[in-house]
Amino acid sequence: MSNMEPHLLPPRVLLFPLPCQGNVNSMLNLAQLLSLAGLHVTFLNSDHNHDRLVRYTDIQARFTCYPGFQFKTITDGLPVEHPRNGESFMEMCYALNSVTRPLFRDMLVSGQFGLVNCIIADGIMGYTIDVADEVGIPIFHFRSISACCFWACFSIPQMIEAGEIPIKGNEAMDVLIRSVPGMETFLRSRDLPSFCRSSDVSNPSLQLIMTETRQSPRARALILNTFEDLEGPILSQIRTQCPTTYTIGPLHAHRKTRLAKHATNTLQRSSNSSSLWEVDRSCMTWLDQQPLQSVVYISFGSLAVLTRDQLIEFWYGVVNSKKNFLWVRRLDSTPGNKEGESEDIPVELVEGTKERGYMVGWAPQEEVLAHKAVGGFLTHSGWNSTLESIVAGVPMVCWPYFFDQQLNSRFVSEVWKLGLDMKDLCDRTIVEQMLNDLMVERRQEFVKSTAEMARLSRKSVSEGGSSYSNLDRLIKDIRLISM
Ligand code: UDX
Repeated sequence: MSNMEPHLLPPRVLLFPLPCQGNVNSMLNLAQLLSLAGLHVTFLNSDHNHDRLVRYTDIQARFTCYPGFQFKTITDGLPVEHPRNGESFMEMCYALNSVTRPLFRDMLVSGQFGLVNCIIADGIMGYTIDVADEVGIPIFHFRSISACCFWACFSIPQMIEAGEIPIKGNEAMDVLIRSVPGMETFLRSRDLPSFCRSSDVSNPSLQLIMTETRQSPRARALILNTFEDLEGPILSQIRTQCPTTYTIGPLHAHRKTRLAKHATNTLQRSSNSSSLWEVDRSCMTWLDQQPLQSVVYISFGSLAVLTRDQLIEFWYGVVNSKKNFLWVRRLDSTPGNKEGESEDIPVELVEGTKERGYMVGWAPQEEVLAHKAVGGFLTHSGWNSTLESIVAGVPMVCWPYFFDQQLNSRFVSEVWKLGLDMKDLCDRTIVEQMLNDLMVERRQEFVKSTAEMARLSRKSVSEGGSSYSNLDRLIKDIRLISM
């Protein structure tokens, strides 16, 4: 405990992420950046996630070296044994609103977090603004999604007004959406966030995402894990509604740049893992033995659940493409798949992969993407995965599963030209063909565009870069409002 008078202590910032892997990863990176700048941080995890982080990582060691850092926990509102994956994502959002929200308020009011100068909450929990207003603490909203997805969600009322939502059946899926400013020429109905596919605008998921996203202009500022060179035109649109929008990403790369300045001490050496699953590092040894850029890394993130039919199509496509691959098969990524249970995969598939493939339950993804043997990424287009691929300069085949991923994959293929979009198709011949295009036929074109975007991403988090300067500005603003 410090003996300093409370007003002489550095400001204390309370960080409150949505309790999902991608959101926790990016907010922990932000927490580390704020701590490195000398701010005191309280990180509010769900009980469920905190137990897993402690079990599978040395998360306490990563943060105990920062003065004033503390973890606190709160329920995510779901029963202990309840599944927490893409199928229960909206259920969790409702539970956070009905169960966690009043508890969060009570914890703040009763001083369980101590003195808090400012809150940075995941903007998908837009209601945190009401709580912060009630207790008189300034609040910033952080979004772990892309600027393009934030803007599309923000524009839902205009799309409803224009009759573009609900989508008028399957035949309208390729119709261009005209009422999202900045995306008029390339955004199709099928690229909208997945909950926009509902035939009814009163659908609770659609209403919740729209309502929460529309809260952000009430926050003191919006913080986004992106960079100006990637999403500049859409950011200009967002700033018409949220004038103070700090772009400080890619956060995982930003964390590395700033840590590199602390070369002398334990900070640099501490692990950066914030995995909610046990990381299997054996794949790194396997990658070491593979030729340069020969491997396709396959991962569908932390929430996606594939049907058995989809799984089989991917298997055949990957095997028939004859590419080397490293595949992350998360334990809860197929329905009803429990540890030790057979998935009944055809023998010829399993045999066909022994030479060329390697599988793990969870990989050290940032390191995998940076490995010289990796030449392509078959991804679900989660925003963290997309940014990690961009920084590593790895081209992508996108198979978006839900929510923001539908938009991200459209931007990857049509706007940034960093890969191919397989949206809404899951067919072995298409998987094979796209992997072949990515790794062979169109390789040169993708290598060129991904190398350039990787360069820009690194520039943004280097001294003088846009994200680097924006983070300095954000920290200065936090200090100012805390005086
Ligand atoms: C989804 C989203 O699409 C995301 O944009 C949203 O904010 C939250 O929900 P998720 O499925 O978790 O997220 O995807 P993603 O955002 O890509 O995050 C996954 C994270 O897990 C990445 O940081 C990735 O590096 C990590 N990961 C994934 C591993 O460390 N190992 C693995 O084997 C797979």
